[in-house]
Amino acid sequence: MAKVTILGATGNVGVFAAHTISEIPYVSDMLLVGRPGREDFLAGCCRDLSDSFAARGTDVRLSYSTAISDAEGSDVIISAAGMPRRPGQDRNDLAFENAKITADTAEIIGRCAPDALLFLVTNPVDAMTAVALKYSGFKPRQVFGLGTHLDSMRLKSLIARYFRVHVSEVHTRIIGEHGESMVPLWSATTIGGIRISNLPTFSGLPAQEMIDTVRTSGEAIIRGKGATVYGPGEAIATLVRTILGDENRILTVSSHITSEIHGIGDVCIGVPARINRNGVFPVPISLEGDEVAGFRESVAKIKKVTAEVME
Ligand code: 2OP
Repeated sequence: MAKVTILGATGNVGVFAAHTISEIPYVSDMLLVGRPGREDFLAGCCRDLSDSFAARGTDVRLSYSTAISDAEGSDVIISAAGMPRRPGQDRNDLAFENAKITADTAEIIGRCAPDALLFLVTNPVDAMTAVALKYSGFKPRQVFGLGTHLDSMRLKSLIARYFRVHVSEVHTRIIGEHGESMVPLWSATTIGGIRISNLPTFSGLPAQEMIDTVRTSGEAIIRGKGATVYGPGEAIATLVRTILGDENRILTVSSHITSEIHGIGDVCIGVPARINRNGVFPVPISLEGDEVAGFRESVAKIKKVTAEVME
């Protein structure tokens, strides 16, 4: 059984992620961490969440703290601490302020929970993953970001609706930046195991419209309801379940790649990675057509943002 800690547990994503993670059977303990002064809110979250356990037959030991160092002994630490995006903001507008928060957090985690896996949700998540990797002193396998797993989920749903198939029949990926320069892998997209390009209806697929919808999904939801919650919360739980279940699934997360793996490297970016109890392991992939240029462009953009916050 495992201990999971959520940093930034009083934020919109953190509050819902606590709910989705508490449903994972491998979780025995969950610690909610928030800023000093938020003790009453954290206590309320614990009580409210534990009230739901009777309905689910769940029995997770809940606790809360305002000290990051209480994450000691965690198996997985989710960092959603930082300023959230406001309507009209780009994720990269948060980079400098959230890099400072992430660096301070990662340093503490590196000391108090050296064997944990550190899971970044804070945006801009690719650059924050690089900051956390540097300041935690962790191995690359131990640090990853939510990244384009959430974008891949969004595209998966759009494709399933278009083809009127069950969402489980669609396998697709978006790699690159969790942001404007994300890259859909149509070459790796299948429906019922059939390459999408082999389906007669593919020629009429509104591919560009779909990826534009995914690109602007976060912004549109924030403009409408103030924050994205359900998508990120479920995406986080999927990744935590994959880790704690030692499932070796290949999901697309922001992880550190080196030139030996992808020909371009030393950046944290959304790539397919094998995920298990020991962490994340990027999987070398070959790209087709304009995917190559798109990925290089995304790498260049993230390297620039990362370099700026690392100065
Ligand atoms: C989103 O796109 C939180 O950046 C995340 O919803």
